Amino acid sequence: MRVLVTGGAGYIGSVVSAELLDAGHQVTVLDNLSTGHADAVPAGAEFVQASITEADPVLAGGQFDAVVHFAAKSLVPESVTAPELYWQNNTAGSLALLESMRRHDVGAIVFSSTAATYGEPDTVPILESSPTRPTNPYGASKLAVDHMLTSYAAAHGFSAVSLRYFNVAGARIASDDSAGSYGERHATETHLIPIALQVAAGLRPELQVNGVHYPTPDGSCVRDYIHVLDLADAHLRALDRASARAGDGQGSHLICNLGSGSGSSVREVIESVRRITGRPTPAVDAPNRPGDPAVLIASNDKAADELGWRPTRDLDRMVADAWEFFQRLRPEVAGATGSGNG
Ligand code: UFG
Repeated sequence: MRVLVTGGAGYIGSVVSAELLDAGHQVTVLDNLSTGHADAVPAGAEFVQASITEADPVLAGGQFDAVVHFAAKSLVPESVTAPELYWQNNTAGSLALLESMRRHDVGAIVFSSTAATYGEPDTVPILESSPTRPTNPYGASKLAVDHMLTSYAAAHGFSAVSLRYFNVAGARIASDDSAGSYGERHATETHLIPIALQVAAGLRPELQVNGVHYPTPDGSCVRDYIHVLDLADAHLRALDRASARAGDGQGSHLICNLGSGSGSSVREVIESVRRITGRPTPAVDAPNRPGDPAVLIASNDKAADELGWRPTRDLDRMVADAWEFFQRLRPEVAGATGSGNG
């Protein structure tokens, strides 16, 4: 299949692009490099440096079968202080992309949605039929695109799959030491596992545990972590489904959660980081982070039923792969700080 991957120079986009290539697809990456890295575009993919509002000439010339759409802004705190960036990039940008697809007769799309569309859940595990009440503009800007896709399926016969990610972690590690490893390397890092690895490597003095009095077994927040390779597997399945249905003109929009179906607390994640890295990784109790729900856990039954998808990699594997990627990226730091091996 010939696939346009928007945001293919980012964390999840680069991993999925590499997996698509491995599976024999032809990949063109469209990325404006606002947060992505040119060297994260896998060898073998064509690369166009442009934004999603400039997809028209690419789709016009390309004979594409489908689009996998990752390109987005994704920092929750930034979305609160500068919501215009999120409505512009995530919502208006996606609308422009869908219109380009419509003009050039590409009707199959896999969209990277988010657990943030649900907001604070009444109950866990969260089902796809649970209420969507996003608590920040990031989640709202993505939910708007989910609604957009439902209406494009109904009115214009689009065949769409929205995948609602929970907490994505881990990396794709190539078996040899060469290219082919892709992982997380954000300029502004807010996520727990990469921050904990920076602490383990001595780049930060300590980790703050954001909230220690939540109604959870150890008082810290519980999240549903999912390995980026399991996530990529779901995208390949979603792509097959979307493209298989694109021809019938009926229109369909499937929404699936992507999570492991079980939760890990912040303290459990820190324990995993200590176990895997062998580094002390100091952590201190800190106040709650505003807007953090106590527990977010996905039901993944629908992804199992509809896509035949089951995650297979556990938290230790996510931390181990993220640590391996970190060490390859920053060998001088990861190797040099040794406050011992345990
Ligand atoms: N945390 C800490 N210390 C840190 C960083 C994070 O204790 O230094 C805690 C957070 O407070 C939270 C947990 O670790 O309880 C996970 O935090 P992340 O920032 O890694 O992830 P979030 O659950 O906040 O965010 C994820 C996605 C977002 C998405 C959100 C939806 O990364 O893109 O889920 O709920 F919007």
